[in-house]
Amino acid sequence: MRILSGIQPSGRLHLGNYFGAIRGHIALQGEGECFYFIADLHALTTIQNADELALLTREVAVAYLALGLDPGKASLFRQSDVPEVTELAWILSTVAGMGLLERAHAYKDKVARGLKPSVGLFTYPVLMAADILAYDSNVVPVGEDQVQHIEMTRDIAGAFNALYGEVLVLPETRLTETPRVVGTDGQKMSKSYGNTIEIFASGKALKSSVMGIVTDSRGVADPKDPEACNVFQILKLFLDAGARGRLAARYRAGGVGYGEVKKELLAAIETRFAPHRAERETLLADPDRVERVLAEGAAKARSAARRTLERVRKACGLPALPSP
Ligand code: ADP
Ligand code: TRP
Repeated sequence: MRILSGIQPSGRLHLGNYFGAIRGHIALQGEGECFYFIADLHALTTIQNADELALLTREVAVAYLALGLDPGKASLFRQSDVPEVTELAWILSTVAGMGLLERAHAYKDKVARGLKPSVGLFTYPVLMAADILAYDSNVVPVGEDQVQHIEMTRDIAGAFNALYGEVLVLPETRLTETPRVVGTDGQKMSKSYGNTIEIFASGKALKSSVMGIVTDSRGVADPKDPEACNVFQILKLFLDAGARGRLAARYRAGGVGYGEVKKELLAAIETRFAPHRAERETLLADPDRVERVLAEGAAKARSAARRTLERVRKACGLPALPSP
């Protein structure tokens, strides 16, 4: 079974990325052949500064390794190190319907928020389909916001197969245990909404994002509905069922203030990520080691992508791939 997922290096990784994606990716390593990549080509739709893109890409690689990705069990690579994917994206764009892309929530949402749409932003789902289909992926573990993109991938693969025969493997979505993490303002936590709590923030920056979580105006003594509270929604991610139940009971009974639970959240974040923080520092000091991991990952991914592209080229009547 091939398991594949990607994360854009479009900003610093946050708790939504961790609980919605990365934790699940790491838990799956060893269960199948795992390919995890850093979607630097996708990030070009928002990060248009060379130094920043390189820095953020390395940050994502370091974060995966620091959080427990074992390169012996899962391949980690940069999307742009497998150029076959962009060729496949072009081929897929010739069978993907305009109407399909026009219905993409992520695109519509970004445009509604005032982002000037480039052609790349519009065709983003085609590149994502190529990412998935290039590796004959069976399972794609992601957060809820990506479900539509994987449905579109299945549609595009279906359209290709209908024309050219059973060439592409249709992937299944695998939602992680916590597919929608709320941000400090109660919307989905997202780099593009400025409502994130970063995994590796520390000191003042971490404190100010936690203390900035939006709450209502109920006083300490008032009973509160835990499900309606943004702090509870985030803090519960760190708690087992028992501790979660006890915290919910404290909310309902009254006597717990938002300041107090924010401090508990701060402590929970610090404790959970402390060992990973140390590992991250070690990795940041050893860029060669990180590059080696990415190069090995890319070599494996590339040979898988080339096998798929050979089939695709043949099916469409294109010549065999030139040597790499
Ligand atoms: P962002 O929305 O911050 O740009 P990405 O789109 O790069 O994050 O998401 C990378 C992965 O993290 C995807 O699998 C996505 O579904 C997951 N993810 C992002 N934000 C959340 C969230 N708030 N809750 C759950 N999963 C999320
Ligand atoms: N679009 C995904 C996101 O923003 C990142 C991504 C790119 C991806 N290609 C992928 C995720 C392929 C899963 C599979 O989160």
